[in-house]
Amino acid sequence: MNADLSAKCAPAEERGSWGSSVGFILAAAGSAVGLGNIWGFPMQVGKGGGAIFVLLYLVCVFVICFPILIAELAIGRAAARGPIAAFQTLRPRTPWWVVGALGVLAGVGILSFYAVIAGWTLAYVWYAATGAAGSDPGGFFGAFVKDGSKNVWLSFAVLVITAGIIIGGVRQGIEKASKIMMPALFILLVLLGLRALTLPGAAQGLAYYVKPDFSGITNIAVINAALGQAFFSLSLGMGAMLTYGSYLSKKTAVVKSAAWVAGLDTLVALLAGFIIFPAGFSLAGFNPAEGGPGLIFAVLPGLFSSMPGGALFGAAFFVLLTLAALTSAISLLEVPVAALVDRGWCRRKSVILLTLFVTVLAVPSALSQGASPALSKLPVFGMDFLTLMATVWNNWALPIGGLLIAIFAGWVWGADNVIAELEAEGNPFPFARAWSFLIKYVCPLAILFIIVMTARGMFGG
Ligand code: PHE
Repeated sequence: MNADLSAKCAPAEERGSWGSSVGFILAAAGSAVGLGNIWGFPMQVGKGGGAIFVLLYLVCVFVICFPILIAELAIGRAAARGPIAAFQTLRPRTPWWVVGALGVLAGVGILSFYAVIAGWTLAYVWYAATGAAGSDPGGFFGAFVKDGSKNVWLSFAVLVITAGIIIGGVRQGIEKASKIMMPALFILLVLLGLRALTLPGAAQGLAYYVKPDFSGITNIAVINAALGQAFFSLSLGMGAMLTYGSYLSKKTAVVKSAAWVAGLDTLVALLAGFIIFPAGFSLAGFNPAEGGPGLIFAVLPGLFSSMPGGALFGAAFFVLLTLAALTSAISLLEVPVAALVDRGWCRRKSVILLTLFVTVLAVPSALSQGASPALSKLPVFGMDFLTLMATVWNNWALPIGGLLIAIFAGWVWGADNVIAELEAEGNPFPFARAWSFLIKYVCPLAILFIIVMTARGMFGG
């Protein structure tokens, strides 16, 4: 069957490569920067009690996730294969390929709810341009997400666009799109932040965002959420960065690129908070903890309607947010695609089949915000299906994937091999010893501790 599907492939086109280091950084930053930063981060800050969550998040990013980002990129580049085959290449005839397989599942699972939210942003391009949300953006959003068939179609549209870009391949598709979209998004975010900070009520929002209330620091559920958010935001723990690393040439300075990616991703998330909280607190009756998945959709239209040229800014913002979501969706889909391409499948056929599969999986998430009462409040977990998906993948699957990757890099393949890979062709790896300590001891123990404690908290023990 593989042979049939790959019959018409041109073998030279099968694996791609990045055109330049900047192209790689932008594509990897494009994967990292997405709905996780602008939709997810403020929502998690709201749920997690404000600035204390921000603090815990930053610790997770720099102490746990950044070392794993370096490890994923190194594994990918050394093997020059997608997630499953990479583990098979570096440690043949061991069960480590299962880590890659988990990543493939996570890519499909995450994309199935990610596409739904990206569909909202797509619709909001139009709503912002026409001022449709009116004076009650929260109510408007509630009615919008209840429309099941609209939501299913929107997620389908997102998946089709994603598939269209990814079929173009690594350099002409992914890299080209990211190079244009990322800088534009960044500029717009800074502009909106400046506007939000000058709104009446902004000071209260700012205080909520930057002044930590330390009583939350021992709340394990909040720590778990911060860790999950850090993994999700950096596209870690499921082989997306590994796959992007596999398109790198040996000449690229990986550690430096990784620092850029983590830095840009963190900057964009922090900026999003500087927009949402001041703007939110300037609205009457705003409660960040109750925002849920609709937080930015309920707050931002209010911000736009308060500024001159708001319809234009609003539409531009949602265009860019849609584009940021697309560069992330691309990397989510690229993980299972790369796994199939490694097995000799055609890129085009892999993309089409996977897109259809994810479209079906997206339906329950699309119907979970009011369209279907059963999916909107699941009997067992008391949350809606989309929130359940996001929690399972972010708070559990990605940290567990990251834990296994850290063990693989630190102990199985070995920290010294990683360092040798990264120092190939004379590239520098400053703080290599510190990295080695973090990946061998700190990352695995910290992640293990957090997930075990969270499980105990949830299931009683
Ligand atoms: N990092 C992306 C975001 O913040 C989401 C993502 C997660 C992409 C995992 C790829 C892999 O939106």
